[in-house]
Amino acid sequence: MIPSVLPTYNRAPLTFVKGEGAWLTEADGRRFLDLGAGIAVNALGHAHPALVSALTEQAHALWHVSNLYQIPQQQALADKLVDLTFADTAFFTNSGTEACELAVKMARKYFYDQGQPDRVEIITFSGSFHGRSSAGIAAAGSEKMTKGFGPLLPGFVHITFGDLDGVTDAITEKTAAIMIEPIQGEGGIRPVPDAELKALREICDENGLLLILDEVQCGVGRTGKLFAHEWAGITPDIMMVAKGIGGGFPLGAVLATENAASGMTAGTHGSTYGGNPLGCAVGCAVLDQVATPAFLDGVNRKAGLLRQKLEGLVADHPDVFDSVRGAGLMLGLKCKASNADVVNAGYDNHVITVPAADNVIRLLPPLTLTEDDIAQAMIRLDKAAQQVETQLTTT
Ligand SMILES: Cc1ncc(COP(=O)(O)O)c(C=O)c1O
Repeated sequence: MIPSVLPTYNRAPLTFVKGEGAWLTEADGRRFLDLGAGIAVNALGHAHPALVSALTEQAHALWHVSNLYQIPQQQALADKLVDLTFADTAFFTNSGTEACELAVKMARKYFYDQGQPDRVEIITFSGSFHGRSSAGIAAAGSEKMTKGFGPLLPGFVHITFGDLDGVTDAITEKTAAIMIEPIQGEGGIRPVPDAELKALREICDENGLLLILDEVQCGVGRTGKLFAHEWAGITPDIMMVAKGIGGGFPLGAVLATENAASGMTAGTHGSTYGGNPLGCAVGCAVLDQVATPAFLDGVNRKAGLLRQKLEGLVADHPDVFDSVRGAGLMLGLKCKASNADVVNAGYDNHVITVPAADNVIRLLPPLTLTEDDIAQAMIRLDKAAQQVETQLTTT
């Protein structure tokens, strides 16, 4: 009999009932160090006082009115994002997938309004992940995500990750945009080198294309800048944001330049819940914490410390781990042992990590992780690695 919850997930046998900072409490009382943060969502950890008070204050005042009316919290969040980024305008969504939908629509509408309705194709990359909607899976294009769900939304051209010549060769009079994650998350924490991001920006400029960055996982302070592309000194035309921006409340956004957004006039797009007062009140509180030099300095400092210790962990367990990769607090441990075994050994030792493609485990801790938390992380990861070593020698 089918379970009452549609069985699309392989869930770990863990039921968390409470969270505080980087720590989660299981129903049986065990405490786990959370280096997954709900897959890069709980940017400020669990039950951050500023987020709890923003949410509860707004909950006492007004939850939802729809986008038929003015929403001051939405306006405030848009103003903050416009002040802090390349963007001139923002549309709010409930998720990263929904942001992907709009990014695709916005790019196509832009060229349609420019009198180039055949310019519909978007170049994407192997190993990418842009969500589970029809546009999202077609954008990623992998068999794993698309098999059985055809006919797929047409108009995506898939290039091997890192193949800049392939990008140039793929551009035709039908190309509208290039869409890329500055650091692939689900794909196994694969950063796009700064030089490559710069080159993609140049390719877009030379060919009149829009650059769409998917910062759903790598954005909102995770790499030590508010958005990851800032490290490369470039700006996109359109950017997808979600996860961290809501700190655990379902919130996403598409940020865009005035030019790229010019086709999106009244009536062309909408969302019932997107940008509602609750979500935007929380989003404002998240940005007020994250978008300060002191906070981002702290992320960089802790990221340096964690990375250095992880390099030591890899050196100590050469049969389990291959290498460390990533940026800021978006780190991956490329495994030699099975990444699933490492994640499970982590559970046994009360530390949570997240598997990714390419046999990687992801460390996406709350950005508020403390130095004590890092020390605890290393003790637990070391024990997990020892457990996997024992398993390797006994099998
Ligand atoms: C880079 C990227 N884009 C899009 C998405 C989809 O976001 P959501 O799951 O909020 O729909 C994800 C989710 O993991 C992601 O990592």
